Amino acid sequence: MGKMAQEAHREHWGSRIGFILAAAGSAVGLGNIWRFPYITGKYGGAAFVLVYLALIFIVGFSVMLAEMAIGRKAQLNAVGSFQKLRGGAWPIVGWMGVLAGFMILSFYGVIGGWTIKYFIWSFSGLMGDAAAGKAGDVFGAFVTNTPQVIMYQAIFMLITIWVVYKGIGEGIEKYCKILMPALFVILLILIVRSVTLEGAGKGLEFYLKPDFSKLTGESFAAALGQAFFSLSLGMGCMITYGSYVDKQTTLPGAAIQVCVIDTMVAILAGLAIFPAVFAFGVDAGAGPGLTFVTLPSVFAKMAGSSIWSALFFLLLFIAALTSAISLLEVVAAYVIDKGWARPKAAVIMGLLIFALGVPSAMSLTGAPKIAGKDFLDAMDFLSSNVLLPLGGVFIALFVGWFWTADARREVTNEGTHSFGMMEPWIWVCRVIAPLGILYIFITGLKW
Ligand code: PHE
Repeated sequence: MGKMAQEAHREHWGSRIGFILAAAGSAVGLGNIWRFPYITGKYGGAAFVLVYLALIFIVGFSVMLAEMAIGRKAQLNAVGSFQKLRGGAWPIVGWMGVLAGFMILSFYGVIGGWTIKYFIWSFSGLMGDAAAGKAGDVFGAFVTNTPQVIMYQAIFMLITIWVVYKGIGEGIEKYCKILMPALFVILLILIVRSVTLEGAGKGLEFYLKPDFSKLTGESFAAALGQAFFSLSLGMGCMITYGSYVDKQTTLPGAAIQVCVIDTMVAILAGLAIFPAVFAFGVDAGAGPGLTFVTLPSVFAKMAGSSIWSALFFLLLFIAALTSAISLLEVVAAYVIDKGWARPKAAVIMGLLIFALGVPSAMSLTGAPKIAGKDFLDAMDFLSSNVLLPLGGVFIALFVGWFWTADARREVTNEGTHSFGMMEPWIWVCRVIAPLGILYIFITGLKW
């Protein structure tokens, strides 16, 4: 198929809400449900949330709109978009994005597999072990059982491949339209359960009471890093999803809605978690282990423990799956635009990413390591702390300095819609976002 014919046949989202739910599905992920609550607790509760909100709606929104505009204009994957719009060295930014997609999904698939294991396990023994105070031990035994971890990772990756294989309308859009409302309902059920427990108030206080003394330079860096990862920015995800948007949809409104949904789910996840943790007097400072060790112990103390545990891990699974789909789509779209058939792209790229994830799955046993870091941590660090911020800087600079006039046309649908925040948006892309991101990039560069 020639290039022109391919563009004419590019699949598009069936509806505006389909696009928004798919993009929100990408954004809402493990980052919202396990990382955000724990980081918020660590960096000052409501004070941190305020900083986070400001960064989401200034820097996050701007970079998200920039990505959507680039993709919608070019109607191509992350690499092809830069090639088509400006060429030169710009496609390298897209390349970094495809690489980041490869790397993030490789370890994301491992954790995604854990959520499946924990969902099933909720009905078969986990609650008993957790009630006996052994949640930490059984977690340790599971993650060092490499064949099992790889098996669940494989199941998670196969489901991800299946959805991407089915395509934009019949795959990604269809499943996100079912899964995202389901996620919301499950989250609300868990919140109601959590805040009505006796002693929940202490958890709410820990989570939301502002502690301005904890707001240091480090917490700003943490907030911006979290905002970027959580909104799926800096790696061409929103370029790719934007490339399936038709010319009638207005982009600024869509970008705002995705930011709002992502932020709401993150804040709500904390409301589901902390009141329950405090009500049962479990240590909330458990950090990253909060999800797989602390929470099973909390659920084990509730009446109907298996149900609550299963619901929570189902929530986590859905969040992880809709994000994983978007990560695979970034990579698949690149080879599809090169002429591959979608089924071949989904299967081959999915399997390659699975293979790259195997060392991450094994690394929970302590090996293999890269320069002293566990393989999984190294993949996470290189992608989240290096590739995403760098990608974000260049995407913002691209719109702010190199593609500005076209960007203005694209976000107003060729001047047919007004965009009240045009000048602030351009200036955030020109100066504020690049400097801000560069700052977190440098502070975050501690191996
Ligand atoms: N936003 C996802 C999360 O919060 C992770 C992600 C990053 C997904 C980058 C796609 C691209 O978990």
